Amino acid sequence: MTENTTSPAPSAAPEEAVRTGGDAMSTAAPQSSAAPDRKKLVEVDHIQVQFGNKRHPFTAVDDVSFAIYQGETFGLVGESGSGKTTIGRSIIRINPISKGEIRFDGRRISGKLSRAEDQRITRDIQMIFQDPMSSLNERAKVGYIVAEGLYAPGHNLTEAERTKRVNQALLDVGLLPEFSSRFPHEFSGGQRQRIGIARALVMNPKFIIADEPISALDVSIRAQVLNLMSRLQKERGLTYLFIAHDLSVVRFICDRIAVIHKGRIVELAESEELFQHPLHPYTRALLSAIPQPDPEVEKHKKLLVYDPSVHDYRVDKPAFHEILPGHFIYANEKEMDEYHSMLHQ
Ligand SMILES: Nc1ncnc2c1ncn2[C@@H]1O[C@H](COP(=O)(O)OP(=O)(O)OP(=O)(O)O)[C@@H](O)[C@H]1O
Ligand SMILES: [Mg+2]
Repeated sequence: MTENTTSPAPSAAPEEAVRTGGDAMSTAAPQSSAAPDRKKLVEVDHIQVQFGNKRHPFTAVDDVSFAIYQGETFGLVGESGSGKTTIGRSIIRINPISKGEIRFDGRRISGKLSRAEDQRITRDIQMIFQDPMSSLNERAKVGYIVAEGLYAPGHNLTEAERTKRVNQALLDVGLLPEFSSRFPHEFSGGQRQRIGIARALVMNPKFIIADEPISALDVSIRAQVLNLMSRLQKERGLTYLFIAHDLSVVRFICDRIAVIHKGRIVELAESEELFQHPLHPYTRALLSAIPQPDPEVEKHKKLLVYDPSVHDYRVDKPAFHEILPGHFIYANEKEMDEYHSMLHQ
């Protein structure tokens, strides 16, 4: 089946850029000296996530802090196993955190919550998954898949109201309401991802965690899904956490980007700033991996490989520093001097 869209998809334009950042030294949520008075919708505050058992704990996410402003797209980028999904799942309350706090709309959502609070969060925060081929229940019809969240306690909708919501959600993502009676296997990858987006949208969320939403899709339909997400964001004032493997995808859709390596954020800045002044060797390595359109340039390009042993943190300990307004980097004093001189070259 080919892509079947009912609404035009405007080109993805970056939302108005905003500035903020994280500061591991502060006890409050990350706050940049350049941050405007913009509402923080999500605040991730020094969180740690561990797996394994008490004797052999494995720290998947370590002292991670960032804030996401209402209406922005915040990118989280890093290699496989760096903890991106774990952070997303912590926000959506699937993975418990062992340290720190997560706040949504100014209220704590980590730890134990009242039933009403839990229902509110279950509605307001939705997730879109990486692989639309495996994330949809094959035995359920599309109508049920999209409606599923509406069956949760607290909704009390009639059958007719539910159907109306589902039909609207399908139309909103460029699918036809008639698709409700079909099964997921009848759809292409791009359409399946649209079903995944409709499933999130039907809940009228405020915040969507998109976990590598286009990685599994054919290159030709990636832009369509990005454009759809961008349009929905504008129409509904949605806020996104956009998780990706590499920097090329996030450059044009994210206002700010955090680069994560082995469970720790190593650099955080506005997208263009990060591309103009990448400082951390891991960010530089990720940037060097982006293919260049010019084959000659590409042929002679030197791929940078990140070697974590370049950091000597035995005595001079690292922290998250704001090196330029809104641009944060994980470094010790010696490295800060080096990064400052790189900026002045
Ligand atoms: N439920 C779990 N039990 C044990 N270890 C886990 C669990 N979930 C994640 N991990 C481990 O935590 C680390 C971070 O995993 P996570 O899935 O968050 O990485 P990721 O950045 O999303 O990777 P990818 O790009 O491959 O999706 C990995 O080492 C992973 O093996
Ligand atoms: Mg993941």
